[in-house]
Amino acid sequence: MDELKIVRSTEKYAVSYCETFDEVAKEGKFLSISGGYPVEDIIRFIKMCRQCGYPQFLLVEPGGRAVGWCDIVRRCDEPEDVGFLGVGIAKAYRGMGWGSRLMTATINDAKKRGFNEIRLEVRASNYNAIRTYTRLGFVKIAYTTDGVVTDGVAEDVWVMSLYCRHITAEGFEREKFFDKFPRIRYRFKKQ
Ligand SMILES: CC(C)(COP(=O)(O)OP(=O)(O)OC[C@H]1O[C@@H](n2cnc3c(N)ncnc32)[C@H](O)[C@@H]1OP(=O)(O)O)[C@@H](O)C(=O)NCCC(=O)NCCS
Repeated sequence: MDELKIVRSTEKYAVSYCETFDEVAKEGKFLSISGGYPVEDIIRFIKMCRQCGYPQFLLVEPGGRAVGWCDIVRRCDEPEDVGFLGVGIAKAYRGMGWGSRLMTATINDAKKRGFNEIRLEVRASNYNAIRTYTRLGFVKIAYTTDGVVTDGVAEDVWVMSLYCRHITAEGFEREKFFDKFPRIRYRFKKQ
């Protein structure tokens, strides 16, 4: 599998990126939606990431087919230096270290671009993903009941965070975090 490449996203990969996203979404147990987006939306998203300097990398087969994606983008109502990570790999390539490599490349780029913290949301049942994130240094910071609803089925969600500054997990100031985001009402769960 060494022939796969990790490349910065461009429009030339939009169709296969769109198909891979759709396949992963349709598995129905990982993402927050159960189907993909039209290719025009994916193209718009790739352009937006480039214009805003948001890191977005793809895992690409030798033939040029994108079989995984990872991006870190700002959410408009949250601080400028906080990015939200999204990731997915086609089923055939999971569990071989590609997801970790793809996320590491994207996180390193995010650090260079001034992100100080990376957050993500993950379904509580997605043990493989949670283990991988933990290995990369993410810590669970909050838990929300029924945080995602797809096709009428609700599931609990963990919020995980990676500090890019020199701060330990123990040093994470939860109260300050929640002061800044009063509209989010997460319920803590014992880890
Ligand atoms: C989460 C995800 C991106 C991780 O990528 P990956 O390439 O599978 O990750 P890695 O191979 O680097 O590590 C996965 C871990 O699960 C293990 N694993 C074994 N078989 C696996 C399988 N079939 N699928 C996933 N992980 C598997 C790996 O050995 C590794 O274990 P370790 O952490 O103890 O070393 C990928 O599994 C995926 O796309 N899942 C579906 C979409 C998804 O969950 N997206 C995230 C939503 S928050």
